[in-house]
Amino acid sequence: MKDKITHIAIFASGAGSNALKIIEAFAQSPRIRISLILCNKAGAGILQIAEDKQIPAILIDKEQFFRGNAYTDELRAHSIDLLVLAGFLWKIPPALIRAFPGKIINIHPALLPKYGGKGMYGRHVHQAVIDHQEKESGITIHYVDELYDHGSTIFQAHCPVLPGDTPETLAKRVQQLEHSHYPRVIRELVS
Ligand code: GRF
Repeated sequence: MKDKITHIAIFASGAGSNALKIIEAFAQSPRIRISLILCNKAGAGILQIAEDKQIPAILIDKEQFFRGNAYTDELRAHSIDLLVLAGFLWKIPPALIRAFPGKIINIHPALLPKYGGKGMYGRHVHQAVIDHQEKESGITIHYVDELYDHGSTIFQAHCPVLPGDTPETLAKRVQQLEHSHYPRVIRELVS
């Protein structure tokens, strides 16, 4: 299927800076298309990005996500091949994992298996890394299974934790890694 277009859905809950990098990276691609954005938070930055970039967006309804079809019909209607989580804070329901086996990936702002799991998001992650006096942190891009931050690792990149780092300064260093590696890893996964 050499000439097939790979359709990607991005799931995000927040500012959407990773989503934006991914959208920009593939804006001119003849083979990879960001075809759908799914968001669980009204007013999130990602929804404005979707509007600006004219990408269809769905505001996720909790009931439908966890006890309904988990949006599998909508994803299939957009011919989605790969689900990319970029700052999506809800656990992915089993129905969705079963519908897209091995086709859901996530990025985590630390070196898993450390500093992952429920409650480990945003500044909590970086605060924990600093509190444990780690010498390095980084990013983990991994497949998604039914547990938080648990599926097998696809790629990790490291950065130092510097003396005097705050969660904010460390977050910035980690975010640079995210922005430069996530689009590249996605490209490699689908080619
Ligand atoms: C990133 O740090 C990502 O690793 C984590 O959530 C954050 C999303 O940030 N899963 P943004 O919304 O892409 O700016």
